[in-house]
Amino acid sequence: MTNLSIIGCGNMGRGIATRALAGRNPVQLLDRDPGRASALASELTGEVTSGEVGDPLSGDVVVLAVPYEAAIPLVTDYGDALNGKVVIDITNPVDFASFDRLVTPPETSAAEEIAAAAPRGARVVKAFNTTFAGTLVTGQVAGQPLDVLLAGDDDDAKATVASVVEAGGLRAIDAGPLRRARQLEHTGFLHMALQQPLGTEFGSALRFLS
Ligand SMILES: NC(=O)c1ccc[n+]([C@@H]2O[C@H](COP(=O)([O-])OP(=O)(O)OC[C@H]3O[C@@H](n4cnc5c(N)ncnc54)[C@H](OP(=O)(O)O)[C@@H]3O)[C@@H](O)[C@H]2O)c1
Repeated sequence: MTNLSIIGCGNMGRGIATRALAGRNPVQLLDRDPGRASALASELTGEVTSGEVGDPLSGDVVVLAVPYEAAIPLVTDYGDALNGKVVIDITNPVDFASFDRLVTPPETSAAEEIAAAAPRGARVVKAFNTTFAGTLVTGQVAGQPLDVLLAGDDDDAKATVASVVEAGGLRAIDAGPLRRARQLEHTGFLHMALQQPLGTEFGSALRFLS
């Protein structure tokens, strides 16, 4: 059993909480608006608590379910409280003004920037950025479980995230070191850009067949 703290109770907070609870992993939901966190908690089934951003983190795994621009201030504010924790970065740092690029330079990634801002003892794993929120609620598309691509430099941290992913009925795939987040973030952006030609309204999933 792994305890998770999910910061941000929007679409992805809901999706990841749903899968974590489906796998019987307890969840703490935190939002800038504690009412939003408690409202989401009341809709979910399982061991779930709620609170406000800034509250102590009860999870061993902390999910940053917020926009990229909010993620670095969050890890800076929590600071040493993140030591010893696995921190999951789910962000797609898309430049929404142009919808034509990422805001991060090519030689880095949101995940690496977040890791640089986090204390040394925090182990950052990129995950869930290539899966859409609504598909995480159901856990599958076209009767097939979602593939969740992971990147990180700490094998134990990736194994912990993979166990949460698999308990929730999804398939975890280790994509390699944290720098692989550069490719994952471009893949997440591509998947978003494909919604218009596919006409799938953020209901599609990337699946690796074999
Ligand atoms: N939606 C998807 O399908 C999808 C897929 C893959 C990855 N992602 C990534 O997941 C992240 C969250 O996306 P989402 O779709 O869940 O967005 P969302 O529905 O808009 O939810 C965003 C959450 O972040 C919180 N937030 C915003 N700014 C904050 C700040 N400065 N400090 C603390 N909390 C803040 C919001 O809190 P308030 O309630 O206070 O506004 C809200 O709870 C993004 O980085 C996105 O790129 C999304």
